[in-house]
Amino acid sequence: MKTQAEPLPDHLRALVGQGVDQIDTPALVVDLDAANRNLQRMVEFAEKHRLRLRPHAKMHKAPLMARLQLQAGAVGVCAQTVAEAEAMGAGGINDIFISNEMLSVAKLRRVAAMAHQLQVRGGQLAIAVDSAEGVERLAQAMQLTNAVIDVFIEIDVGQGRCGVAPDERVVTLARQIAGRTSLRFAGLHAYQGGAQHLRTVAERQAAIVAAAAKVKDVRRLLEAAEMPAPLVTGAGTGTFAHEAASGAWNEIQPGSFLFMDADYQRNERDPAQPQFEPALFVKSQVISVSERHAVCDAGHKSHAIDSGLPEVQALPGQPPLRFANGGDEHGVLHPLDDGGELPNLPTLGDTVWLVPGHCDPTVNLHNHLVVVRDGIAAGRVEAVVPVMARGFW
Ligand SMILES: Cc1ncc(COP(=O)(O)O)c(C=O)c1O
Repeated sequence: MKTQAEPLPDHLRALVGQGVDQIDTPALVVDLDAANRNLQRMVEFAEKHRLRLRPHAKMHKAPLMARLQLQAGAVGVCAQTVAEAEAMGAGGINDIFISNEMLSVAKLRRVAAMAHQLQVRGGQLAIAVDSAEGVERLAQAMQLTNAVIDVFIEIDVGQGRCGVAPDERVVTLARQIAGRTSLRFAGLHAYQGGAQHLRTVAERQAAIVAAAAKVKDVRRLLEAAEMPAPLVTGAGTGTFAHEAASGAWNEIQPGSFLFMDADYQRNERDPAQPQFEPALFVKSQVISVSERHAVCDAGHKSHAIDSGLPEVQALPGQPPLRFANGGDEHGVLHPLDDGGELPNLPTLGDTVWLVPGHCDPTVNLHNHLVVVRDGIAAGRVEAVVPVMARGFW
């Protein structure tokens, strides 16, 4: 993990200001105009529904992207790892929520140090917990500082991942938190990750209606115990319109909407949410052509395949292509219409733009994002941005 940007290698520094044709392959490219349009649409949605927007930085792992989000109106960012939170803090972000449970002493010490740093500069760190042990360990680590950390109780609203059951146990945890001077009970973290990629709008809506019922039950229990939840945070790119409609959440934390990916585009479009466009591409080059297929230089080391293979972005004048698995460093390109005698294929040296199946783990494979203005067809490189929080720690 790097908290300070290292100087860019010469060949990357020299790219800034050049045309997209000068970007060597395989490279991870962000269409900044498309990303800004996605961001604007999300900000407008949040404003219209009076929701705080706290985009998830696990997706881009780059403080520069987080700063764009704050400038556009986000209240802060989420991080999933301490490394992400540290990178965001080092990159000037003052309001960070670690939306995940941390149990190791080593990590909790870093959390305490960050809470202190952010507080000194007028910011605030928050973290999720879902156990009495987690609260105790956090409180112990916080003794290293005189800072106060915001604590959200994560409740399981249907994903079956982290989160305490949505019942009286939440009240017990809230009391435990309130009893520690270095911890402040900040509310509920209620994220239904299992609903994000349900394909139909009806399935996603049903999952969030069920999640909202749990959130509302817990809110009532907390109110009855005179410990109302100050805030409820949650939601992702697939469902945020349903969280908004429920009235149970005050803050949304989607991440993927900024770059989008092929898997999210496979979801049935929800008319209640803004339309997002692909803004993240792997630029690849055709390095071999045979009679019935072509091969590009982007394989699993360039894009994650946990949510399916990339789609080939159709550009004017290019034959429509299907990407097939070619291994670590290769992708095999087939014509979409494979029935003809002489398939229409790209030629040697052509550029092929791929939309990754899943944006978060794809970004995690790359050291840099090449940020482009005026589109991927004929734009120019605006910046080369380090992916500061790569890796786990
Ligand atoms: C806790 C949490 N919140 C928000 C998100 C953002 O989801 P998405 O990138 O699908 O918008 C995730 C993604 O996994 C998450 O784990």
